Amino acid sequence: MGILSILTALAAVTITFLGSTAADVPPAAAAAGSPSPWATGRGAGGWDEAYTKASEFVGQLTLVEKVNLTTGTGWEADVCIGMTGSVPRLGFAGFCLQDGPLGVRYTTKNSAFPAGINLGATFSRRLMRLRGEAMGEEFRGKGIDVQLGPAAGPLGRVPQGGRNWEGFSPDPYLTGIGMAETIQGIQSRGVIACAKHYILNEQEHYRGSISVKIDDRTMHELYLWPFADAVRAGVGSVMCSYNKIHGDYSCENSWTTNYLLKNELNFQGFVMSDWGAQHTTLGSALSGLDMAMPGDGGAPPYRSLWGGALTEAILSGTVPQWRLDDMVVRIMAAYFKVHTGAFASRPAPNFSAWTNASVGPLHPSSNSTWTVVNSFVDVQSTHAALIREIGAKSTVLLKNTARALPLHSLLKSLAVIGRDAQNIPGGPNACSERACINGTVAMGYGSGTAEFPYLVSPATALQLRAAADGAAFTNAVANWDLEAARGAARGKDVAIVFATATAGENFVVVDGNAGDRNNLTLWDNGDALIRAVAGVNNNTVVVLHTAGPVLVEEISKNPNVTAILWAGFPGQESGNSLVDVLYGVVNPQGRSPFTWGKDVKDYGAELLFQAPDPRKPEQSFDEGVFIDYRHFQKAGIEPTYEFGFGLSYTEFDYSGLKIVVQNSTAGATVPSQVVAHGITEPAPTYGTVNKNVTANVAPEGFKKLVPYVYPWLSSANVSLARTGSSSPSTATNGSAQPVLPAGGAPGGNPGLYEVLYTISAKIKNIGKVAGTEIPQLYVQLGGEENPWGVLRGFDEVVLEPGETKTVTFELTRRDISNWNTTSQNWEIGNKEKVVFIGQSSSRIRLNSTLPVLPGLLWRSYD
Ligand SMILES: *[C@@H]1O[C@H](CO)[C@@H](O)[C@H](O)[C@H]1NC(C)=O
Ligand SMILES: *[C@@H]1O[C@H](CO)[C@@H](O)[C@H](O)[C@H]1NC(C)=O
Ligand SMILES: *[C@@H]1O[C@H](CO)[C@@H](O)[C@H](O)[C@H]1NC(C)=O
Ligand SMILES: *[C@@H]1O[C@H](CO)[C@@H](O)[C@H](O)[C@H]1NC(C)=O
Ligand SMILES: *[C@@H]1O[C@H](CO)[C@@H](O)[C@H](O)[C@H]1NC(C)=O
Ligand SMILES: *[C@@H]1O[C@H](CO)[C@@H](O)[C@H](O)[C@H]1NC(C)=O
Ligand SMILES: *[C@@H]1O[C@H](CO)[C@@H](O)[C@H](O)[C@H]1NC(C)=O
Ligand SMILES: *[C@@H]1O[C@H](CO)[C@@H](O)[C@H](O)[C@H]1NC(C)=O
Ligand SMILES: *[C@@H]1O[C@H](CO)[C@@H](O)[C@H](O)[C@H]1NC(C)=O
Ligand SMILES: *[C@@H]1O[C@H](CO)[C@@H](O)[C@H](O)[C@H]1NC(C)=O
Ligand SMILES: *[C@@H]1O[C@H](CO)[C@@H](O)[C@H](O)[C@H]1NC(C)=O
Repeated sequence: MGILSILTALAAVTITFLGSTAADVPPAAAAAGSPSPWATGRGAGGWDEAYTKASEFVGQLTLVEKVNLTTGTGWEADVCIGMTGSVPRLGFAGFCLQDGPLGVRYTTKNSAFPAGINLGATFSRRLMRLRGEAMGEEFRGKGIDVQLGPAAGPLGRVPQGGRNWEGFSPDPYLTGIGMAETIQGIQSRGVIACAKHYILNEQEHYRGSISVKIDDRTMHELYLWPFADAVRAGVGSVMCSYNKIHGDYSCENSWTTNYLLKNELNFQGFVMSDWGAQHTTLGSALSGLDMAMPGDGGAPPYRSLWGGALTEAILSGTVPQWRLDDMVVRIMAAYFKVHTGAFASRPAPNFSAWTNASVGPLHPSSNSTWTVVNSFVDVQSTHAALIREIGAKSTVLLKNTARALPLHSLLKSLAVIGRDAQNIPGGPNACSERACINGTVAMGYGSGTAEFPYLVSPATALQLRAAADGAAFTNAVANWDLEAARGAARGKDVAIVFATATAGENFVVVDGNAGDRNNLTLWDNGDALIRAVAGVNNNTVVVLHTAGPVLVEEISKNPNVTAILWAGFPGQESGNSLVDVLYGVVNPQGRSPFTWGKDVKDYGAELLFQAPDPRKPEQSFDEGVFIDYRHFQKAGIEPTYEFGFGLSYTEFDYSGLKIVVQNSTAGATVPSQVVAHGITEPAPTYGTVNKNVTANVAPEGFKKLVPYVYPWLSSANVSLARTGSSSPSTATNGSAQPVLPAGGAPGGNPGLYEVLYTISAKIKNIGKVAGTEIPQLYVQLGGEENPWGVLRGFDEVVLEPGETKTVTFELTRRDISNWNTTSQNWEIGNKEKVVFIGQSSSRIRLNSTLPVLPGLLWRSYD
């Protein structure tokens, strides 16, 4: 293909911002053709200084140097899972990007942290933050610039979703806090976090082609919510996802990227594509993509949709200079935002994602520049203790009868039964991508994994504890040999039986499950195994390592099953964490971050396993905001265990609900709207573009690696005639633009986060042992369109026996608002609102209507 035909091909890519007219999505039309919002560095979130430094830096760059920082060098072209080009002239190395959300992937001497879903189960801001900090330290220690996590997409629309466990919970409020704490933790250690996968990537089946339809209100109140928290927390990067939204790929979607993320949420960092999720040169650039990953994948001569192809687009004028400058300023602002104080320096990567040998190629895809690539830096520090603590404090005690737990040192005999308790034959990383259930499961499979430095299996940890107590210990794999299982369990003081159901990413298939789970039952004969053990032992304790809910109604009703624990995916200290809970060293405080239905149909929303037209898979999120507990409550379906539920070894009493209207003038004046009024300044540019073609080809004598993506024009003969208007002219318009009413600062209008009510209650430990209660606040916004209640507060309250503490929740304007699709703003509805405080989404202990805000009459923003 000649240069001219490439340009024509590019030009033929019209920017179809939204495939459908979608009357239910009013901003879609407005978003189509509007220019990609440029970063300003202003507003909350501490971007100012970073932005100033970034614009100074970018002002020094040539066109090709700018393009270099926007484009990955190609798959396996460098040592990291993704790496951009560099600026050798200024001694600035390319950006090293590395998976994943629970630790550094594809290296050694790193920690394998508990998965996101376990952090959701802790309901602990403290642990979320500490894990973020510890992960940040490990990424920095390996010389990584960007950690590809945390995840808020999938949120967990359907329980089978293969990657739900990488995130925190299907509840957007809990996930939003998980995102914010994790991001602040990671970034406090000099590493850029990446909020992913943006957005509506709710299943693995068809993830690269499915087009999702969603109404604007559900988008705001459910799926966008945690990303707003991520942006408000100052996240440096966001990864757009594989799927389409209303016909347009996420990485080419003006509504989700330009309108929602960069305008309304005022995101100041950069948007990178998921690996291969970019589909066009111009469409992605004008729709707000800032960094192409892994960078290759285009037609010759560039073999990249950006790189030299983007340089051509700038020189021909099809992409304006301000848009390129904005991409690079955003990338560099994220860089300067985290590189401050003690983290001003920038260590180089000292590992290779592609080999565990010491010596290897710096550029594996071209097998070139062999040198020491792995220095095997041990970055684990003392993180094992934190991992053990999170593992224990995320374990949810679902059932505990006949005082089965905690176990005690007087036990004479105990049996451990099930493959899921065992060491993994061949070592914890024997199965690549963790894609098997050959031993205990402590994380899901796919790119959201890390290599285990070691893995303490439950069998090992329990055997040690039994030995210390002098208890007889029996261990049996026996998943399919039920007679052996019975033999092991019979006559023992306690039989602990383990079962799993894993999930992951669709590029690996485990037992016929292509990422998403095919069903919600236990794997590997788990139900039969539990039934067999409980058939002969009336003190059977069930431990579950699952990616999310499994069907446990029968188990919960079995009188011989005296205890059930969900341990999720606890990471490397799995067995130790579990022993801490089983023996009461840690009083369980985990609460279920999802609902346990009795049937997959109970969840309402369905996963699309088989599209009627597999070439054009489509899905409409018709259930709206009613997923997980919101759906169960609306449909009146009794789950086995509800969202937010978890037992303790002690008991708590609730009293003294008190509501204080925090700001009596807030309703009447809506001060925040001032921020959101007005228009932006015109798009700035930094430095000039040298239009001399010769200046934009590789310098004479430069030896290009093949395949490797460079920013240069393929030759000095490239024809740069602008090939017609390839986009709505408005998309390239850099003149001043209106600020959206809901926008104005990172996370949206700051007025949304203004505290309107302070709600407090007294919690007392009325049991005999110390314990931690997780009081939860739910708000009923009123009306058919709203769920019975939505989580809007929680806390972690440590209490000695007999001790009482006051817990305080702050309700913000956002917390009690609905999204008004007409006014495109958050609005407090005029229905009466009720607050509930309780031990789960249905174990309500205290309630009250919310006093009407003076001067508001349940109205604002009118
Ligand atoms: C772009 O980055 C590559 C890889 O780091 C480097 O070899 C090349 O010199 C850079 N180009 C420019 C113009 O700086
Ligand atoms: C990686 O280790 C090398 C020495 O082995 C060191 O020079 C470099 O600074 C280290 N990088 C980081 C990120 O610590
Ligand atoms: C890669 O390069 C190394 C070192 O030059 C060489 O030994 C090896 O055979 C090469 N591998 C391939 C597949 O070309
Ligand atoms: C995992 O177990 C399966 C079935 O027993 C076996 O075929 C496979 O080789 C095992 N994988 C590894 C890496 O040990
Ligand atoms: C559900 O899937 C698991 C894992 O593939 C399988 O072991 C189990 O038999 C399936 N359950 C049913 C009821 O088909
Ligand atoms: C419970 O266990 C006892 C043995 O302790 C057994 O006889 C009985 O059948 C079991 N019950 C059930 C429901 O499995
Ligand atoms: C369990 O069975 C034992 C005898 O095997 C009996 O002594 C004990 O009372 C039973 N416990 C329960 C809770 O039924
Ligand atoms: C209360 O509202 C006023 C007027 O909107 C505002 O200036 C002030 O900052 C608010 N105070 C608090 C504590 O939110
Ligand atoms: C373009 O740049 C080349 C090399 O940098 C230089 O030799 C040539 O004179 C320039 N042409 C123009 C028209 O400035
Ligand atoms: C939404 O906003 C429009 C326009 O301001 C207004 O007319 C309408 O009443 C609002 N809807 C609700 C449900 O408040
Ligand atoms: C609210 O509290 C009252 C007692 O103050 C109680 O009668 C009522 O059942 C509670 N409602 C809910 C939903 O908990």
